[in-house]
Amino acid sequence: MSEDQGPPLLAMRGIEKSFVGVRVLHGVDLECRAGEVHAVVGENGAGKSTLMKVLAGAHAPDAGEILLDGEPVSFRHAREAQEKGVSIIYQEFNLLPERTVAQNVFLGREPHRGPLVDRRRMDQETAELLRTLEVDDAIRPGTLVGDLPVAQQQAVEIAKALSFDARVLVLDEPTAALSAAEAEVLFGRVRALRERGLAIVYISHRLKEVFELSERVTVLKDGHKVGTVATAEVGTRELVRMMVGRDLDHYYPPRAVPEDFGEARLRVRDASGGMLRDIDLEVRSGEVVGLAGLQGSGRTELARAIFGVEPFEAGEVEVDGESVRIRSPREAIRHRIGFATEDRKAEGIIPIRSVRENGWLGLRALGGRLRRALGLGTGDKVEELSRAVELRARSLEQEVRYLSGGNQQKVVLTKWLALEPRVLIFDEPTRGIDVGAKAGIHDLIRRLAREGLAVLMISSELPEVIGMSDRIVVLRGGEIAGELPAGASEAEIMLLATGEGGAGQPELARQEGS
Ligand SMILES: Nc1ncnc2c1ncn2[C@@H]1O[C@H](COP(=O)(O)OP(=O)(O)OP(=O)(O)O)[C@@H](O)[C@H]1O
Ligand SMILES: [Mg+2]
Repeated sequence: MSEDQGPPLLAMRGIEKSFVGVRVLHGVDLECRAGEVHAVVGENGAGKSTLMKVLAGAHAPDAGEILLDGEPVSFRHAREAQEKGVSIIYQEFNLLPERTVAQNVFLGREPHRGPLVDRRRMDQETAELLRTLEVDDAIRPGTLVGDLPVAQQQAVEIAKALSFDARVLVLDEPTAALSAAEAEVLFGRVRALRERGLAIVYISHRLKEVFELSERVTVLKDGHKVGTVATAEVGTRELVRMMVGRDLDHYYPPRAVPEDFGEARLRVRDASGGMLRDIDLEVRSGEVVGLAGLQGSGRTELARAIFGVEPFEAGEVEVDGESVRIRSPREAIRHRIGFATEDRKAEGIIPIRSVRENGWLGLRALGGRLRRALGLGTGDKVEELSRAVELRARSLEQEVRYLSGGNQQKVVLTKWLALEPRVLIFDEPTRGIDVGAKAGIHDLIRRLAREGLAVLMISSELPEVIGMSDRIVVLRGGEIAGELPAGASEAEIMLLATGEGGAGQPELARQEGS
């Protein structure tokens, strides 16, 4: 192969970018060859997404140049970049849910026949694109995008990129919203696109994916390029050191010992509703209970039922020994149950408000009277809590939309902690969080338990479930399949989760190389 001859398909050189006087990219270079997957890694806020937005024409760089096939280009907006063959797929997709797949793919450049949109041609061409992605059996050109699951919406985004004859494709944390099985399908797709000669820039916090997919990896730190290395020539440890500037042995904080456990703070008895049947569950003060199970086993449903989003239809729930009826999240909060999810939209985070205001949202929603009744006071805890979660914001007055994705997630955490919960449910607490901050979140969860909280933690990452849990409850098909003590093995969890021998089930086995 003559890939080292001639200019790379994509070259970004000396890219600088400041926002309101604060520089977030300091002369960054990035190259990607045709037929290469080039990973970009770095801590939350390192500048990965910003660099990609510059590439995709969403931000204008203050300095530096972008070359395609050695020719300088400049994009004034995203469409111009797309037309030159540079497409980006953001974590939060840019599709219109009320329109069909074909309408989304051809949005703003529909083929016409005379004065009318040529729907047939649009559908045909879309079908063709879906076929090349091998999703034509699952997705039809006429389906409404809003009716598609996330993984298929992502496939539509990719189809759209291909319809522009993308030569450079950027994927910004593409697996964050996918199940392990869906991620595998995406990997296959990425490899196929690489075979076709696309240059693919791949951002992820999951180093395992980086090692699996990429030829080279570029590390950013605080807006600087630390270096570019051949993936095959670097180990996890070295890569992490480049990212965080120090060695990071990802060890989990010590688990609780039996003396640490107090009374049951949360008790669910014989509860059913929706897909859930006969749920018996107890979480004691000081305890972290891990909730494991395959996709669709009912983990999130259970959390939502406890939190009153879709309440149980039968059964009993007790908080601190007192029987309670929780029919709405508001009632859950009144009983001091918190539910931190990975879904910032559903969390009610308001992007155009400051970190401080968002930290206060949960408290404010309670209203003054209830707040006083709960003894939550009015003292400003956001500052202290932001420190506890190691939030990286310029100041507490900074608008949340300007924070990096991982730091927005930490704002979600501060919001819940401000409510001083007795029971805190975490759904995928470290998704989208960088390797360094991950350890910080784990320490925080453990510290909260030590201070007397009862923690219920859902995670698709088995090492995280095993590393964090004092007890592991495994769900299968909406029922509790069994319970395992601290330190159970992945195989034991799989056995319960699948009800079989369990080896090699990809759904649950999303492991981090950390
Ligand atoms: N529009 C904006 N205005 C002001 N600051 C911004 C804006 N967009 C990004 N920033 C800041 O630029 C820095 C880099 O953010 P960026 O989103 O590129 O990080 P990232 O590496 O993608 O992080 P993550 O892994 O959390 O997604 C952060 O400090 C962020 O707060
Ligand atoms: Mg980002």
